Amino acid sequence: MGHGPTPVHQNVSEHNQAIQWPLPQEFQGSGETCLRLGVLASGSGSNFEALAQACQSGQLAANVCQLVVNNPFCGARERAERLGIPCIVHDHRGFSSREALDQALIDSFRRAQVDLVVMAGWMRIVTERLIDAFPERLVNIHPSLLPSFRGARAIEQALSAGVRITGCTAHLVSLEVDTGPILVQAAVPVLDGDTPQTLAARIHRQEHKILPHAVQLAAHRLALLSP
Ligand code: GRF
Repeated sequence: MGHGPTPVHQNVSEHNQAIQWPLPQEFQGSGETCLRLGVLASGSGSNFEALAQACQSGQLAANVCQLVVNNPFCGARERAERLGIPCIVHDHRGFSSREALDQALIDSFRRAQVDLVVMAGWMRIVTERLIDAFPERLVNIHPSLLPSFRGARAIEQALSAGVRITGCTAHLVSLEVDTGPILVQAAVPVLDGDTPQTLAARIHRQEHKILPHAVQLAAHRLALLSP
């Protein structure tokens, strides 16, 4: 498990590259509503931290109230400790089924009274139980321009296919893996000589930018935040 760089929110577009991030840059909550977010993570947790920073900086009128991880030694857990965000470990190896794990997630997020749940690098397949518990309130971030390159090896697949443009997608979660209504996408060029690591690093920078916007869009769709 790597420990990715601490995400930053300035310089939203990549000015030195041909492909720019397409959405408006400014967004603010009304100041009246504060969305309560739950986050699921399995790995480094750089997207989790990007979200937490967007909340702390006031970019997003929300608070990350609860992180749940399935890997006791993941970077996300360390980040939560540093950021002072409550973290619960639900190790998938201790559950008899995917449904049982999802029920534990539901219980934890209900206790924390979260409005939306963000899968920020959650490397478990989720079941109908979790999706039904948070209808249209479950957001995933994926390192490709969906519907291309679904699954756990999206970056390697993009490189093998020889595409010149890939990217990342934040979407609402449907039952089939890496499907569901798309909220925000960012395009990332594949450069000559890219390795999975160099491409992943560029994709990550874009993920950190689009995820807070996707959360805001998901919240607005449900009228959880004022426009
Ligand atoms: C991201 O690339 C995300 O798209 C994928 O898992 C990765 C998580 O990275 N689902 P991090 O743990 O947020 O650094």
